[in-house]
Amino acid sequence: MSKIFVDACFGKETPYTPVWMMRQAGRYLPEYMRVRAEAGNFLKLCHNPKKACEVTLQPVDIVGVDAAILFSDILVVPNEMGMDLEFIKGSGPKFHNPIKTEADIDRLIGAQEAASKLTYVYETIELIKKELDARGGETALIGFTGAPWTLATYMIEGEGTKTYNICKKMMYSNPALLHKILAKVTEVVKIYMQKQIEAGIDVVQIFDSWAAAIEPGKYDEFSWKYMVEIADFLKEKYPHIPIIMFPKGIPAFLDKVYGNFEVFGVDWSTPMSLAKEKLGDKYVLQGNMEPCRLYSKEATTECVEIIQETMQGERHIFNLGHGILPDVPVENAIHFIKECQRVSKK
Ligand code: CP3
Repeated sequence: MSKIFVDACFGKETPYTPVWMMRQAGRYLPEYMRVRAEAGNFLKLCHNPKKACEVTLQPVDIVGVDAAILFSDILVVPNEMGMDLEFIKGSGPKFHNPIKTEADIDRLIGAQEAASKLTYVYETIELIKKELDARGGETALIGFTGAPWTLATYMIEGEGTKTYNICKKMMYSNPALLHKILAKVTEVVKIYMQKQIEAGIDVVQIFDSWAAAIEPGKYDEFSWKYMVEIADFLKEKYPHIPIIMFPKGIPAFLDKVYGNFEVFGVDWSTPMSLAKEKLGDKYVLQGNMEPCRLYSKEATTECVEIIQETMQGERHIFNLGHGILPDVPVENAIHFIKECQRVSKK
């Protein structure tokens, strides 16, 4: 049976424009907070297939989204490559042994072994698929990875950063070393995504959350080409699995976007009309309401109507232009989903 979300990814006619939200399983849901507390902490939740499955399904059952996204984190990949990961309450992720030298890179665990250690992710996918099938099988499951560049920023800096000065020092003073990290991560991600597909995901999304940290003239060299390499690898084996690329905050690169994938995720700082003009012929566009509009139902409806007017007759998937924030009222998230489905109904 074909799923409305997968059809929309391939640009096929659908009864309405499907919608999901980045970070849709998370802290704005009291039900999520309960399951996270039961698991012990965030990373333990990622490692627990039964509970990770439960929180993946919460936005499907409570909010009414058209696609589920696997509950996990992009950073489990470097974690299983041998990097010591901790999520610190209030400040976010931290690697206690950031990469500094070539020897540090050589010590990282390689593709087959690292991807094989992520069994808890594949088990979670299998459980989610069973649950979605029991609900009628109409909701697609999105699997995901971080882009090599975004993963490398955490591996090199050790934590989130405002300046990216450590990785940029490497970019300009020792680019070969940065490329060595990016190439190694790319190999792991290829096998990881292949295994996610084999476990049952319907769609792949590649998050390049820190794309905007790279100057436009260097973006292809240090990030995009690795994302395209992953997409090419997967497309050759699994042409029926659509791929969504989400490079956040790179309007200056829109003219240069290339590659074999189906959907381009538009972040909230890029006008949908600009993305349509530059990429609407080549790719289905996903996005892009500014997530903070969710604080007001009126501001939400206004934006959904504007996006719908812009994308009327075009190939489109509704989403936020980045992740939902923890203090958004659940009823406002439900309102967003219903409004997207209402305004686009054919
Ligand atoms: O619902 C979903 O979207 C699926 C689950 C998901 C999470 N992280 C759960 C999560 C996904 C797809 C991600 C991807 C991710 N993780 C990205 C790319 C997407 C983006 O937001 O740009 C990035 C950069 C990360 C790294 C990461 N993980 C950070 C910076 C943080 C801390 C920030 C914060 O919001 O606290 C996390 C933690 C994280 N990942 C949480 C969740 C639900 C919050 C953890 C908690 O429960 O306290």
